[in-house]
Amino acid sequence: MAARGEFSSRTAFVLAASGSAIGLGNIWGFPIKVASNGGGAFVFTYIILTFLLAYPILMAELLIGRNAKADTVKSMVKIGGKKSRGLGALTGYWGMLTASLILSFYAIIAGGMLSHASGSVANLVGLPVNWFVNDSMLGTIVFCAAFFVLTIGVVASGVASGIEKWSTRLMPLLILLIIALIVYIATLPGASEGWAIYLQPDFSKITEPSLVLDALGQAFFSLSLGVGTMMVYGSYVSKSENLPKLGATVAGMDIGIAVLAGMLVIPAMYVAQYNGVVIFDDKGQLLQSTDLIFNVMPSLFSSMGGTGIIVSLIFFVLMSIAALTSSISMLEVPVAYASDSLGITRKKSAWLIGLGIFAFSLVIIFNSAALFGLVVNFATEFSEPLIGILFCIFVGWIWQRNALLAELKQGSPDMENTLFWKIWPSYVRFVCPAIVLVLLLRSFL
Ligand code: TRP
Repeated sequence: MAARGEFSSRTAFVLAASGSAIGLGNIWGFPIKVASNGGGAFVFTYIILTFLLAYPILMAELLIGRNAKADTVKSMVKIGGKKSRGLGALTGYWGMLTASLILSFYAIIAGGMLSHASGSVANLVGLPVNWFVNDSMLGTIVFCAAFFVLTIGVVASGVASGIEKWSTRLMPLLILLIIALIVYIATLPGASEGWAIYLQPDFSKITEPSLVLDALGQAFFSLSLGVGTMMVYGSYVSKSENLPKLGATVAGMDIGIAVLAGMLVIPAMYVAQYNGVVIFDDKGQLLQSTDLIFNVMPSLFSSMGGTGIIVSLIFFVLMSIAALTSSISMLEVPVAYASDSLGITRKKSAWLIGLGIFAFSLVIIFNSAALFGLVVNFATEFSEPLIGILFCIFVGWIWQRNALLAELKQGSPDMENTLFWKIWPSYVRFVCPAIVLVLLLRSFL
């Protein structure tokens, strides 16, 4: 078997894991939830829940992965020991399936981002834009396929020369582009109304259960939890690294970019409204999120004249980058299994599995009305929380406390005396599974 990959440095891991966490969920999902849930009050709740709920589960995944330094199935079996190895393997397989399902719909939306980015380039060089952004079946398929080729290409190149190389290039670019757009949008008429809503929390809404549940779901989804992505990335971290610190950095980056994205998207929505674009329906509800992104934003850009083309290009390139650094981490889950457990070369497994998932994306595209929402809900509202609970149970109840401590001590020898060790173990044992259970029950009610 070929040698396993490893991230070459702390920074490389932080950028790759942040790249996984920071995706369409941060740049699009988060601002929209803010706008429909009382502005700053949602931001506040989300930040607290990320540290209280999502960070402890992130740590569980990273530790399970680094402990075994193997794919999710092997890692879970190792923790399971004699008694729970079956359940461990099942959890690993199910995570792999869920990661693949998430990729199958994520790539369709990401393809839409690519098509709008290409449309802006066409516009810039004077080609007809319509072919790129006309929302046709053929266009959707072509751009979804293109997005898969990018994702597969990166994963096929390996941990250091694919995932790490592209994450370390693309993440700084992403941050620069967001900041550039924030500054530009802030100068436009109408933007200040968006800023006001974002910065003045309506705390009367904080007691609404829907706000808390939305924030909970967002915190969980945004850190890419509950499929084993973070477990696999953890398995590529050196034993000499202090994992709780690295995990906290990733959670901090994830929050930071979500908050930044809010400064871009919310003012932009109000600039669009100022320019006469409809963003609220007759009942005063915010439009559907896909309408907002694929109709409202383009109308906003075209109302800006010549500069609008450049702004549109930057915006959709930004979205495509965010999606790509997340999608590679989804594909990496089954690919790690194929190369670690089945001994298939990385290149071969990346293409085989990637094309297989693309075939499923095609099924979704052809039956979009029946399947799209179903796959999204099954993967994100049912599978991710349930697997998250299983991860907590394995770390909190099944993994022997001494072995857990020994793993944590690698890279942080003083672990026993830290606040982390005093709080976190009982936290993953009781608090996290209980809270995630509430999320899970919500999907049934
Ligand atoms: N966190 C990513 C985002 O915000 C999406 C995501 C959710 C994800 N679950 C995942 C990515 C699992 C990788 C693996 O867009």
